[in-house]
Amino acid sequence: MSENPNLTQTVKQDKKFSWSDLPAGYECLSPMAGVTDTAFRQICKRHGADVVFTEMASANMMLAAPTRNEAFLRYEEWERPIIGQIMGGDPKVMAEAARVIEEMGFDGVDVNMGCPEKKIVGNACGSSLLRDGDMAARIVEAMANAVNIPVSVKMRSGFYDSDIVQPQFAIRMENAGAAALAIHPRTKEQAYKGSADWTITRQIVENVGVPVGGSGDVMDREAIRRLREETGVQGIWVARGAMGNPWIFERERTERPPLAEVIETALEHARLMVKYKGNHGMIEMRKHLTWYFNGFPGAAALREQMKTVNVYEDLVRLIEQHQLLERFAA
Ligand SMILES: Cc1cc2nc3c(=O)[nH]c(=O)nc-3n(C[C@H](O)[C@H](O)[C@H](O)COP(=O)(O)O)c2cc1C
Repeated sequence: MSENPNLTQTVKQDKKFSWSDLPAGYECLSPMAGVTDTAFRQICKRHGADVVFTEMASANMMLAAPTRNEAFLRYEEWERPIIGQIMGGDPKVMAEAARVIEEMGFDGVDVNMGCPEKKIVGNACGSSLLRDGDMAARIVEAMANAVNIPVSVKMRSGFYDSDIVQPQFAIRMENAGAAALAIHPRTKEQAYKGSADWTITRQIVENVGVPVGGSGDVMDREAIRRLREETGVQGIWVARGAMGNPWIFERERTERPPLAEVIETALEHARLMVKYKGNHGMIEMRKHLTWYFNGFPGAAALREQMKTVNVYEDLVRLIEQHQLLERFAA
């Protein structure tokens, strides 16, 4: 699959990607480790995502063992604009990894300054950088000096609940060379608890000159509309709201699609998973399947069975059985 005939928004390759060229209200598939691989990105792109992000890749790992990151950083041309997200805590290493991202043909490179995971934070990476603005700025500066593609930063509101670092942190990142920013306004301590504080998003929008993306609690089209209206963000980063629901990117859609369409998309997604990851792709697909079939009446049993699929044919068989049962019950 090298081209998506339905796609109208792909930025031409001969023109360098710039965040500022995107029309206001652009919608991104936010980076999600274990979720936003090329298969899922292609599905979201098909449904209207304007910009897609890879899963985060470790800068150290990219340089030390490049083949281990191949799956994270694989993409197809028609996914453009596509941004590679990297994670690390050393300016030199991050600059070198940014160069690799550029050489791989990505349209932009994004720095993860939000990951709350213990292992990442313990290595002074991800959200830990929110505690060290000097180091965060040095990283962005080193990257911006190393590459010609735009460097963006995805960050949280702070590390500790008692120490909200925004909007000052965002201003520092802009001054260090970030061409765009995205904010998930929860602290690292909060992880995913409570709700995202969109007033922080608004403060950042009001204090920086580069495009700002809003993330956090974007679960449906109504939330997308409200987030734009309440904060003035230029772009929306959709994360959990896209899990099992790539239709969230369809501007005109008001309801989730009927079961038949969900089945068709889930099967297409599963075929892509197998194409890129072989049979292991089906194991990774299990979680997507439970998300796709969430909320349909009577689908609880089907969802349980989906956790047991090993190969694509298992999925086809399960769906056929389910449809047969439905027909008998009708
Ligand atoms: C499973 C999962 C994995 C994530 N992985 C990343 C990641 O690799 N990099 C990143 O910047 N954010 C990551 N995030 C954060 C999301 O991009 C997003 O900012 C966050 O989920 C808030 O948006 P939401 O409330 O609309 O889901 C992840 C979130 C989830 C749920």
